[in-house]
Amino acid sequence: MKKNIIHILLAAGLAAVSACTALHPDSKTLKTALKNDFYMGTAMNLPQIYGKDKKSVDIIKKQFNSIVAENCMKSMYLQPREGAFHFEDADRFVDFGEQNNMFIIGHTLIWHSQAPRWFFTDNVGKDVSPEVLKQRMKNHITTVMSRYKGRIKGWDVVNEAILEDGTYRKSKFYEILGEEFIPLAFQYAHEADPSAELYYNDYNEWYPAKKETVIQLIKKLKSKGLRIDAVGMQAHLGMDGPLIKEYETAIVDYAAAGVKVNITELDISPLPNPGKMTANISDTIAYREEINPYTHGLPKNIETEWENRYLDFFRLFLKHHDKIERVTVWGVADTDSWKNNFPVHGRTDYPLLFDRNYQEKPLVKKIIRLAEEQK
Ligand code: XIL
Repeated sequence: MKKNIIHILLAAGLAAVSACTALHPDSKTLKTALKNDFYMGTAMNLPQIYGKDKKSVDIIKKQFNSIVAENCMKSMYLQPREGAFHFEDADRFVDFGEQNNMFIIGHTLIWHSQAPRWFFTDNVGKDVSPEVLKQRMKNHITTVMSRYKGRIKGWDVVNEAILEDGTYRKSKFYEILGEEFIPLAFQYAHEADPSAELYYNDYNEWYPAKKETVIQLIKKLKSKGLRIDAVGMQAHLGMDGPLIKEYETAIVDYAAAGVKVNITELDISPLPNPGKMTANISDTIAYREEINPYTHGLPKNIETEWENRYLDFFRLFLKHHDKIERVTVWGVADTDSWKNNFPVHGRTDYPLLFDRNYQEKPLVKKIIRLAEEQK
């Protein structure tokens, strides 16, 4: 009898311990806690790709299962002069992803920023003809995608082509080819690697007029029989807006248009909003001391507000996990974030999940806990 009681107590104890470890957030990382919901990705810079920034590399291997190159696959780096491709950095990036079993993303094929001038001009500096630009787009897309065929799983084919008022950005692609440059890019991309997922990526896509045009674009691509798998919603966010509700409406509406949503380029800045928030890299704002208030650390109350805003967004992403394929943060530690220099140069920003000493912020465990609670 006594023996039986001891056995029962032992079994109960063991069950309690295993229940605890199953739920205990300390034993989980972002990618394991979220694995049934969506990929958890990060952008990588060159010191990380080349393994020089060991602290970040350790974090990336432990916490993330998807990667995207922060810069080295943009056209000005891949093809700085016509026909002269530079693949060394991108090759290393893809090798890293394969060695670590990552869902590898290509960013980005057709974008008005960080594109070399030669792409749009002839040898006397005049705009090229529509035929020449088409040829250059096709050659760039085909060369780059063929090299990583079957290895890079999804591509941001076109980036930032539509403005908040729903009109098309007057980029060189648009000026020379009109709206058709987008279906053309998707066609060339699908021909280059039919197995790759293809995405349209942009910021502020929750603005209603912009969202409408993006949805029209999705419908147009689909009606032409072209492949589009997802809309990438860049999430360079601040504390003031958008409302969670506005973001939710956009996620739901894109999904209803027949695509998945990727939350791409996630970073939330706790700094004062210096003006209209865009992510167009030429929309810069002059430095003023009052918009750089936390050079010696983030006050506790601001950190709490910032955490809550992140958690509100993760609650939303988890709620709509069936529509979301991937959530990607735009970098690992605050030190390396582009937000220290955008839209204002030289601020001390705190938009990422790891601090300036590469320590996990308390937020990470809170996100993991949210994911666990939802199960
Ligand atoms: C940014 C990088 O983070 C910076 O290092 C670089 O100087 C400029 O570009 N939208 C995009 C990203 O699609 O590629 C941009 O990345 C941020 C805005």
